[in-house]
Amino acid sequence: MNPPAPAHPASPYGTLPTASPMPPRKPISLPRLAQLRAAGEKITMLTAYDATFAAVADAAGVECLLVGDSLGMVCQGLPSTVGVTLEAMRYHTESVARGLQRVQGTAWLIADLPFASYHESPEQALRSAAALMQAGAHMVKLEGGGWTAPTVRFLVERGIPVCAHLGLTPQTVHALGGYRVQGKDEQAAATLRRHALELQDAGAAMLVLEMVPAPLAAALTAELAHCATIGIGAGSGTAGQVLVMHDMLGINLGRNPKFVRDFMQDAGSVRGAIEAYVAAVKNGSFPDNTLHAW
Ligand code: KIV
Repeated sequence: MNPPAPAHPASPYGTLPTASPMPPRKPISLPRLAQLRAAGEKITMLTAYDATFAAVADAAGVECLLVGDSLGMVCQGLPSTVGVTLEAMRYHTESVARGLQRVQGTAWLIADLPFASYHESPEQALRSAAALMQAGAHMVKLEGGGWTAPTVRFLVERGIPVCAHLGLTPQTVHALGGYRVQGKDEQAAATLRRHALELQDAGAAMLVLEMVPAPLAAALTAELAHCATIGIGAGSGTAGQVLVMHDMLGINLGRNPKFVRDFMQDAGSVRGAIEAYVAAVKNGSFPDNTLHAW
């Protein structure tokens, strides 16, 4: 008699199984994220650029995956996100979405609108967002303050969920003069607050706050009742946290920024490191405002 066939026959080159070995959690949706926030549970987000890492992060319990234009640096070796094209974003979004589908993944999938793909007009933004939504994204993210509010409103009214991004906005790194903490003085903090309120009013359901002083991020989080703040270098007071996956796995080719913790150091596997990240965000031990914030 032949031995029983394995549940997932061995497949070369890390091919994903066709079904998850894990019991699937409920798909993550905007109402589910709002529920988490209302219950005081922190939202977890990581970047993902390919099918396999997306499936592993989903299985490790991450709620939101971001196909960030950081893929320019992480995957393409570019010096900044400025050179990332819409076609590159579409390709990686499709890869991540396919990886999630293969394992019946349930994460909420966000894709970055890259530099100059939404700057001309709301109509241009809609065409760019459509390409990413058709590739499998559930939400698009765009960078910038008040000038983006009409575009956010235009997309949201047409059924496209939008995540805004304030503070350090890497697509404008040259205008900002480098990767620096934003909103430090009173006037800059007031401007950031005004932009955040305008973006919430325009319908943004999420707001990434990058490299913003922790007290400012916490105050904005309390004020924005309808827009969940997701911090990166913004302290522990935001509704959720995001990191670039390669940074938190300790495979950044440069030096990790102060706000990153290398979760691979005490983990035996990539999945273990991501599970530790999820646990640390949920139990409030990451980020530690004395180490990872300003
Ligand atoms: O592109 C990206 O990875 C991002 C995160 C840093 C939030 O925008």
